Amino acid sequence: MLNYGFYNMNCMDGMREFPDKFFDIAVVDPPYFAGPNKRRYYGRSESTTLIKRREYDIIDTWDVPGMEYFDELIRVSRHQIVWGCNYFDYHFGSGRIVWDKCRSNMTFSDAEIAYCSLHDTVKTFRYMWDGMMQGKSVDEGWIQKGNKKTNEHRIHPTQKPIDLYRWIAREYIKPGWNVLDTHTGSASSLIAYHEAGIRYVGFEINEKMYQKARKRLKEVENQLSIFDLGVKR
Ligand SMILES: C[S@@+](CC[C@H](N)C(=O)[O-])C[C@H]1O[C@@H](n2cnc3c(N)ncnc32)[C@H](O)[C@@H]1O
Repeated sequence: MLNYGFYNMNCMDGMREFPDKFFDIAVVDPPYFAGPNKRRYYGRSESTTLIKRREYDIIDTWDVPGMEYFDELIRVSRHQIVWGCNYFDYHFGSGRIVWDKCRSNMTFSDAEIAYCSLHDTVKTFRYMWDGMMQGKSVDEGWIQKGNKKTNEHRIHPTQKPIDLYRWIAREYIKPGWNVLDTHTGSASSLIAYHEAGIRYVGFEINEKMYQKARKRLKEVENQLSIFDLGVKR
């Protein structure tokens, strides 16, 4: 069995390493349409609107998972939060989380939807995520952050905010639980888990993205350990 940590590997191979229901919860964000890379949707310049979009590297690891992925996910985890559940032909239960991105931009979706096995109701998280406009904090996410210099740096075309995972950690992950992220991308999730002292396993298949995400995570780990040293002195 693998140890806790972040791995550059295919999650289907990774999950096979773990016994049934090993993870208390899986919080996952698999690719749900055949690719930003194919559509060249991300990383292009919007010359018509004069908005210069960020030039992300093309990610060529964008296979939409099939039923065997969800079967394996449910085998290894007791609870699941699955982003983009509305795009998959899988029979999820009725619980939903809606992340309202507080967007005014008409081109992109206003919200993202996740299946959540921990309740049968619909819960909403409001957090601005619209280009340079980012939410102020977990609790005041609908208010735009004043100082753009403190904006979260984006390294991934479909990066989710660390604050979204901080909220998930606070609302859903009980003390002592461990967590699985099969499609880690930028490592926003792992940063939130590290901060909260939650044990995790993360997989990212794309080597270039893995290296960037690893560096991002390491920077936070280093900052936190310097802070710890400061507090202890
Ligand atoms: C939708 S993105 C995840 C974004 C992430 N939630 C974030 O905040 O950055 C999906 C990621 O899954 C990776 N991926 C695709 N297939 C994979 C697989 N079989 N195993 C592990 N990672 C995979 C892609 O390279 C991509 O980075």
